[in-house]
Order: sequence, then C-alpha cells, then structure tokens
Amino acid sequence: MNHERTNVPEQRRGFSVNRVSPRSLITRGASALGLLVVLASCATNAPQDTWQPKGPNAKLIDDLQQPVFAVAGIVGIIVFAVIVYVIWRYKDRGQPIPEQTHGKPALEITLTVIPALILAVVGVFTVRAIFDLARTDDTELVINVTGQQWWWEYDYPVQNDWGITQPIISSGQLVMPVGTKVLLRETSRDVIHSYWIPALNGKRDAVPGRIHTLRLEADEPGIYAGQCTEFCGLSHANMRMEAVALSKEDFAKWIANQQAAYQAPAEGTLAKEGEAVFLNQCVRCHQVNGLKRPDGTLAIAAPDENVWSGAAPNLSKLMTRNTFAGAMFDLLRAACRDDVWKAESAEFGAKYLAGVDETCLNVNDLRAWLRNAPAEKPMYANPALLTETNGKYRGMPNLGLSESDIDKLVAYLLTLK
Ligand code: CUA
Repeated sequence: MNHERTNVPEQRRGFSVNRVSPRSLITRGASALGLLVVLASCATNAPQDTWQPKGPNAKLIDDLQQPVFAVAGIVGIIVFAVIVYVIWRYKDRGQPIPEQTHGKPALEITLTVIPALILAVVGVFTVRAIFDLARTDDTELVINVTGQQWWWEYDYPVQNDWGITQPIISSGQLVMPVGTKVLLRETSRDVIHSYWIPALNGKRDAVPGRIHTLRLEADEPGIYAGQCTEFCGLSHANMRMEAVALSKEDFAKWIANQQAAYQAPAEGTLAKEGEAVFLNQCVRCHQVNGLKRPDGTLAIAAPDENVWSGAAPNLSKLMTRNTFAGAMFDLLRAACRDDVWKAESAEFGAKYLAGVDETCLNVNDLRAWLRNAPAEKPMYANPALLTETNGKYRGMPNLGLSESDIDKLVAYLLTLK
C-alpha cells in the first residue's frame, strides 16, 4: 500500500491539491440533496399537503397512515440499526471465518410471524377504510367530473333538493357546500387523468369509457388545491384544480347565480363589441349559455368539430371563477386572490361570490392567453403539429386576434358573471 502512495505521478499530485476527489464530490452532493429534501418539508404554504386533512374522507386516510407510518418508521430504524451494527461488528479484520450452520428455525419463524401479524392488523384497518371510502349510498350531492387535456369540467345534474333545476356546467373550480357528502362521478374524454384534492380525499383515476366515484366532503369553507396525478401529456403539470367549499347558504346563492339568465352587454359599449368578436371567434368552441347571434338565434358551440377531446370550457359565468386555462392561471390578481384564499372562513363565501371585477382581473395573463394560448401552455411537443392538426386542436389555438379585438374581448368576458 505504501508503495503505491509514494508512486503517485507528479501531475496527479499537483491537481489533487485544489480539486475535490470524485468520492468526496458524491458525498457532498448526496448531503446537499438530503438537506434539500429535509428543508423541502418545512414549507409553510403547502396547499397540497397530504398530512393536513380538511374533511372526513381525508381524515379517514390520515388516521390510517399516521399509525402505519409510525410502525413502519420504528421497524425501519430497527432494521437500519441492526444492519449498521452487523456491518461494523463483523467486518473483515482478518479473523477466521465463523462456523457455518444451516438456518436458525426459531429466529426465522419469529421474523416471519411478527411482520405477518403487523401486516394483518394494518390490512384489516385498510380494507375497512377502503370500503368506507367507496360508499355511495349516503350521497347528498352528485357532481359529474370530466377530465380532458388539460382541464376538468364540472357538470351539476338536475337536483331539485339543491335548487339545481337545469344542468350547470363549469370548469376550473369545483364549487361544493361544506358538511355535505358530495359524490364525484369521474370520466375522461381522451386519456387517463387522475383527480386529487389532497385535503379532501385520495386520488381517483378518470378513465375514458368508465365512471369512477370519489367522495368529497369539506369541514370548513375555503379553497382546496389539487393536481392531476396521472401523466396525461405535455401539460399534465398544468392540469390543476381547486375545490371551493361554501356554506350551504352561499352555495345556494352560487347555484342561483349560475342558473341566472344571460345578460347581454348594453348597446354601444366596448363589451358589446367584444360580444361580436366572441361570436365570430370563440363560440365555435366555447359555449356561453343564452348568448344570441344578431339574428336572434342561440349561439351553440360545436367544439367536437374543432377540438380532439370534443369539448372546450363552458364560459357562462366565467368571472365567478378565480382561474382559467385549466386552473393554470389566476383570473384574480395576486393581491385580490390572497384576499379570497386567506379570508377567515366566515368571510370567505362573500369574498368568493363577489367574483372578478375590472380592478381585480389578472389582465396580463388573460390577454397573453387570448393573444397566443399555445405559447402560454405547452400543448404540442412538435410545433409542426400546430399547423397540421387535421382541423382539430388539442387546446386553444392562436387565433391571431388584434390588440383591439383583445381589448373588446376582455371587456366582454368581464360581463360574464
Ligand atoms: Cu390530466 Cu395529468
């Protein structure tokens, strides 16, 4: 050994003075990564924290995972400690090889039976939780949820108990009453997505041709953030959702407003000109309930002719939502959004129902979206596909709108509330 060390070539010694050895580099890198992972758990603003359940379904999961996590942690620490001790105690110090025996039945049986018992106990509670979470017989409100690249549609079927006398179609934010057993009926129009609001329940895949159910219930009014959790294409990471829980009184107001008749902008206003632009450009894909063409006929969108998934978000009452483009962007400017998100639960409903007005509109992101949507949200891996779509788009195309058309459209969209 000494022989090798004295024989290190000149240049090797010269460069090792200031350079870090590869092994030390790996050690430092691993330490830094470890520290980063530990520090990442310190976030104060973590709306998708699975350890902070805000409703009975999420609590059921949490009550299961806390003890299992503790037991698994203790077992993990014991195993790790024994391994470290054995490595140190029996490392090669030149001692003779110990006597070789075949097995230790008593020890092996013990080490099989103990984990089997632990897993059996965990299994009993897990199966019970799975059955509890799969219940549908106590549902109080049904909401249909449809995933597509890359946004969620919410469709409230007629339910007279809730004052829903005509179907309501919305997107971006799932609005629901607190203290109510809501049942989501999920499906997809294209690929597999997965619906997940961590504070309210676990994940459930949305699969084309199937309907999967997911229970949601929130204890307190507020906004609960979520994220699509099944890789579904280029903008999977941008496929967000928010569940908005309102008191039952506020939910009734929301329902009434969603069903309220369309209010056309007054003649001679910028918004009225925007309505004309909307009829020319947007209504091919986007429905606004009650919107009429100049000849008095209802404008019916036909997104199936233009979009692969066959649907585009229904924009009736757009300004009652806080987000757009699959909840990727906020409709509210940051200060206004904070005002709603951080409101006390008693004040939350009134602030949310106020919707978006001119002073609070996140006009920069909305204009950028209208100007060139594909530049704001990745939709096509291959830019050539943008022009070779066989007439169908995966998301909103660049419509080549002029800045003055965008002015008019923004003014018009602000009236949809
Ligand atoms: Cu939808 Cu990932």
